[in-house]
Amino acid sequence: MRIVDLIIKKREGFELNDQEIEFIIQKYVSGEIKDYQMSSFLTTIMFKGMTPKEIGKFTLEMMKSGRIIDLKSIKGIKVDKHSTGGVGDKTTLVVGPIIAALDVPVAKMSGRGLGHTGGTIDKLESIPGFSVALTEQEFIDQVNKIKIAVIGQTDDLVPADKKLYALRDVTGNVSSIPLIASSIMSKKLATGSDAILLDVKCGNGAFMTNVEEARKLASQMITIGKELNRDVRVEITNMSRPMGKSIGNKNEVLEAIRTLKGQGTSDFNELCYSACITILKQAKVTNDEKEAKKMIDEVIKSGKALDKFYEFIETQGGDVQKLKAKDFWNPKYKLDVLAENDGFMEISSALSFGIAASKLGAGRITKEDNIDFEAGIEINKKTNDEVKKGDLLFTLYSSKPIDMQIANELKDSYQINKQKVENKVILDRME
Ligand code: URA
Repeated sequence: MRIVDLIIKKREGFELNDQEIEFIIQKYVSGEIKDYQMSSFLTTIMFKGMTPKEIGKFTLEMMKSGRIIDLKSIKGIKVDKHSTGGVGDKTTLVVGPIIAALDVPVAKMSGRGLGHTGGTIDKLESIPGFSVALTEQEFIDQVNKIKIAVIGQTDDLVPADKKLYALRDVTGNVSSIPLIASSIMSKKLATGSDAILLDVKCGNGAFMTNVEEARKLASQMITIGKELNRDVRVEITNMSRPMGKSIGNKNEVLEAIRTLKGQGTSDFNELCYSACITILKQAKVTNDEKEAKKMIDEVIKSGKALDKFYEFIETQGGDVQKLKAKDFWNPKYKLDVLAENDGFMEISSALSFGIAASKLGAGRITKEDNIDFEAGIEINKKTNDEVKKGDLLFTLYSSKPIDMQIANELKDSYQINKQKVENKVILDRME
């Protein structure tokens, strides 16, 4: 078999069979298929899509490309959540500790930033000392002991996705339903949780830009989950505006901490509460939404959720003293953007804010790039906030001098209106 023939077969509209899909994944992981060949294959998938049978096989092969973690020795219903990627999306850092503080085991594999979207692993690694490289036994022991652990992909955990994810990121091959569905589900299945909540982001800052596409992606992932006996539920959430106030890495960790203290923005709170309520239902803690909300309120007010967050950080090697220090986030350069007239703020492109944050250093342009953990954007006026001329709208941060061009490029992605605009957070739910 030769990859070039399979690329041509797919390009000409034929379905790949099981052996061909096995060949592609196995030979790519072993290095026999080169990055340039794989990127041509991925581009073909971007345009041609995959049949449901191909997606199922592609996902299983990716899952089997490495070790599969057996979580049977963890008591209770193990839960996991995963977002398809957004701008300012630090939800795991809040939802994980809340759920764990309610005694539900959270066993999660997270990813790095992709395209213009941020990644949980990058945010966690912005905390000095924090490590996502746990052995399987350490992962299981930690979930048993403190109810939460987050791992990254090591070379032996879904290596096919690890390589593909990095390649897609830098070759413009991200926003394809089969590639996203197989990437997410192969990881979720390899880490063996019983219940999975998928946050499918929708809008110009997400890989799915409209609700129909988001529903298609959701139903592909639900189908894969059902075939393997997992309780997969989906929330389709709005990503035409950045989530919360902070976009970046260290600054997003700080926003997660504020949210765990009960000081989050209303959109981010709504997203976190909704995810927690669904997960508490999946974990069979309660089916009553009011009761679930009360339980979440209680762990936030009592400080138990925040304590759980610090315990989780410390257990995975993070330096909590440095995290709590005033200079944890200390960018060298900043650039304020002020309002030019009065009215109500509307951020209309989360995508542009994601790209700007990435250019400031918060994301990667090539696979080898290091992230500038200090870089990012702080939004002072969110959509529908009242604005007076001269008010601070947002600030750009970086460790390098900031090019005015980045601020200029953002000019078309927000406006100040006479009236407020519709601003929904949860667009749909599916199971
Ligand atoms: N998150 C993933 O894990 N994979 C994707 O392809 C997109 C978002």
